[in-house]
Amino acid sequence: MHPSQSKILKIVNSAFYGLINKTSSLEHALVILGLKEVKNIVLAFSIQSYFTNKTNNTDRERFWKHSIVCSQIAKFLGNHFNAPGKDTLFLSGLIHDIGKLVFDQYFHDEFIETVNMVVTKQIKTSEAEKNILGTTHYQVAAKLLQQWQFPKEVIMQVFYHHAPWHDMNYTSGSIIIYLSDVMSKISGYTCIENEQKTEIDALLNPKVIDFLTKNGFDLDKKSLEKLLNRINDLITNEMNNVLKIFD
Ligand SMILES: [Fe+2]
Ligand SMILES: [Fe+2]
Repeated sequence: MHPSQSKILKIVNSAFYGLINKTSSLEHALVILGLKEVKNIVLAFSIQSYFTNKTNNTDRERFWKHSIVCSQIAKFLGNHFNAPGKDTLFLSGLIHDIGKLVFDQYFHDEFIETVNMVVTKQIKTSEAEKNILGTTHYQVAAKLLQQWQFPKEVIMQVFYHHAPWHDMNYTSGSIIIYLSDVMSKISGYTCIENEQKTEIDALLNPKVIDFLTKNGFDLDKKSLEKLLNRINDLITNEMNNVLKIFD
């Protein structure tokens, strides 16, 4: 079996896909998940291999762990909230921060400077990026994905992952990627070591809760805590299967 085939099966067989019986054939996976979903998984892998780690002082492993956890939470939340257009969520979750890889690969010194600024000043990554690079990872990612002719929903979900309230057309998908990003940080899977700690309070801000509720995500402190506990359980149980997909 080709290594990428076994990677795909690893993902498909993870608890996040909710298959009762594990499958060992790609054909079977295709039947169960549909072509679109499998295509998204393949696309995700091709992106990962496009960005090779040329440098040794950047924590790529941490970056991909954050991205993988985010993709799995997105998948889970898509099912949990029965969100429309669920099939793009895994992909968007996985590549939501690829703008950072662009910076790392093509503006390496500036990228390292932003990472240092995030840690020393305890500010948001986008803030440091605007300061040093004059643009943000989500803006660069949206441009790149446009160029690569990615589906419009994916581009929008990536572009708005820090501010889904600005997305007028694809709100629920953008909200899920936003929630997944925040939740992966709350679960300890941050993109940068020693970055500002993210707590549940980030989601309990009245403005955020109000926006979420208006868009059909009925969440309060109690239900958020419950959801985070379930997600933590899933991550713990699936750690070996999922976090090693890029090995
Ligand atoms: Fe981000
Ligand atoms: Fe992120």
